Amino acid sequence: KVSFQQRHFLTLKDFSSEEVKSLLWVAADLKYRFKDRNERYTPLAGRSAGLIFEKRSTRTRVSTETGVALLGGHPCFLSPSDIHLGVNESSKDTAKVLSGFVDIVLARVYRHNNLEVLASEGSIPVVNGLSELYHPLQALADFLTLRDHFKSLKGLTLAWVGDGNNIIHSLMMTAPKLGVNIRCATPKGYECDPTVYSDAVGLAEQHGTTMYCTTDPMDACKDADVLVTDTWISMGQEEEKNERLRAFQGYQITKKMAAVASPDWCFLHCLPRKPEEVDDEVFYSRQSLVWQEAENRKWTVMVS
Ligand code: CP
Ligand code: NVA
Repeated sequence: KVSFQQRHFLTLKDFSSEEVKSLLWVAADLKYRFKDRNERYTPLAGRSAGLIFEKRSTRTRVSTETGVALLGGHPCFLSPSDIHLGVNESSKDTAKVLSGFVDIVLARVYRHNNLEVLASEGSIPVVNGLSELYHPLQALADFLTLRDHFKSLKGLTLAWVGDGNNIIHSLMMTAPKLGVNIRCATPKGYECDPTVYSDAVGLAEQHGTTMYCTTDPMDACKDADVLVTDTWISMGQEEEKNERLRAFQGYQITKKMAAVASPDWCFLHCLPRKPEEVDDEVFYSRQSLVWQEAENRKWTVMVS
């Protein structure tokens, strides 16, 4: 039975292996029923979701609005140019007020701490729609895409080539629970957050998978089943563009890099994409699953 979760969804770190597998199973089932069988089901009738976006979004906003509506609920988009949050009203007061209007809040924030304030001060569940630290909805969609593609996740190796921030952090909090190994290549100075990495190593030990970091993209990609990257300039880092473009030289995913991967390699990117991190030959190739991955944002947000 699908309903709004009765718990916060700020990071997949808080979800056990069984819970992550169950979320993916239900998302796959919803996709099959709604898309393949054209069934309709409205368990969220009469319920509302507030969607706070401090930053731009195409996928998170549209997947959530359409996903909530498909389940019969009412999505209420709240942008910082329309509501008082951050200008005339604190996160604490906003959380208390929204708790009286909606049944759940999804928020995309600059600082992860704002999500924690919304969660602790309100009385409704809070879903992370991206913070600088995590993007759990993206990780769920990525693993649903890999599950659809490979049928089984256990034993796969995922190579990350790019910035050590929100997307890889969420992949690291999830992969070991699904039996997936991670090899992560980041340039010096752009490594993952040390606390997140240490948690990830602990998870890998607990679940018997490997978690390995390097500065060499070729080393990360060797024999990998999945190559993944993201923008080198995340939202809010626009002023660092030139410095970042220099630091990430040699990190563009190309067919030459993919040549060292497993013969059945595939490519993922959360989007939006810039050509510097992956060239057109890979991005528009048969191995690229980016459009399925984007669509899966909808089936996975519906279970979060
Ligand atoms: N991948 C992702 O979160 O995209 P948006 O920024 O468009 O929501
Ligand atoms: N790392 C990117 C992800 C966008 C979906 C950012 O934070 O802007």
